[in-house]
Amino acid sequence: MKLLITGLNGFVAGSIVAQARKNWVVAGMDLAETPGMPQDVASHQLDLLDEQKLTDCFMQIKPDAVIHTAAIANIDVCENNPEMAWKVNVGITRTLATLCAQTGAKMILCSTDSIFDGTKGYYTEIDAPTPLNHYARTKVEAEKIVLGASDRNVVARLSLVMGLAVMGKGNSFLADMIEKLKKGDVVKFPSNEIRTPVDVVTLGAALTELAGNSFSGIIHLAGNTLINRYEMAIQIARILRLNEALIEATDSNAMPGRAPRPNDASLVNKLAAEVLTTPLRSLEEGVRLTMNFTI
Ligand SMILES: NC(=O)c1ccc[n+]([C@@H]2O[C@H](COP(=O)([O-])OP(=O)(O)OC[C@H]3O[C@@H](n4cnc5c(N)ncnc54)[C@H](OP(=O)(O)O)[C@@H]3O)[C@@H](O)[C@H]2O)c1
Repeated sequence: MKLLITGLNGFVAGSIVAQARKNWVVAGMDLAETPGMPQDVASHQLDLLDEQKLTDCFMQIKPDAVIHTAAIANIDVCENNPEMAWKVNVGITRTLATLCAQTGAKMILCSTDSIFDGTKGYYTEIDAPTPLNHYARTKVEAEKIVLGASDRNVVARLSLVMGLAVMGKGNSFLADMIEKLKKGDVVKFPSNEIRTPVDVVTLGAALTELAGNSFSGIIHLAGNTLINRYEMAIQIARILRLNEALIEATDSNAMPGRAPRPNDASLVNKLAAEVLTTPLRSLEEGVRLTMNFTI
């Protein structure tokens, strides 16, 4: 069975690759070459915005399943470049969903907890999206496209992803935080943002499982610990024996020039706990797992 992963160089994709290659023939696509990619993973460099190149490459690979991680995932970049964000997050998703529907491949879209406005918190799969920023609006549209293209498809809404990059480059706040605390620098985390962080290793396993099982529809992939991002940083520092006195609380919505963020975007992971064999983990279990995980 062949698995295609888009956004191969990304933080989440690295963990999927590391785990999926045990049971799948893995191919990936990204803009640039992926350093350190195992030889058994077919890595294709292309701009997914090029519809013809994407179609040709997809048809050459003929995947049985696709995990679509490629996106502009930075909230402020999306807010400041709305047309490009729409093209990448919505346009590429539409092309891929069409190709998957034509060939019978199952598609898993990586969506986000940010599609909720954060006024309620502890959101389930039946709560309606209430996007606050442009990034969230692109993801809501992408979700509709993927669910409308085939009744086999999956929308996986990811909570805040925590951990060290397994391979490739990783947009990882944890790596940044560890480096700064070790140097004696102050780090700031928003205490207004309540999340249910999921470690990147568990997430990679869960997404791989969804590619191969019969689940379809919306699923929330989140950890078992509900916590604000400041307290999360404090707890991680304690687990890793780093200097927690260097961690300061901020309010992300009081910073001028930034796109609005949901305050409480915590997700209920009950459905995932029922349908997946991959165990969902607490913050502490997740930190320990990601610190010790090697490919
Ligand atoms: N990380 C989180 O906490 C989090 C939480 C919720 C949801 N998500 C979602 O999960 C997915 C993966 O997140 P991530 O943190 O792994 O993101 P990431 O590290 O930014 O990875 C995304 C990858 O997609 C690539 N890409 C972007 N545009 C492309 C294009 N036109 N053609 C080919 N490749 C392109 C990027 O390449 P460049 O870097 O070279 O542009 C990057 O390697 C995203 O869809 C994100 O929205 C992430």
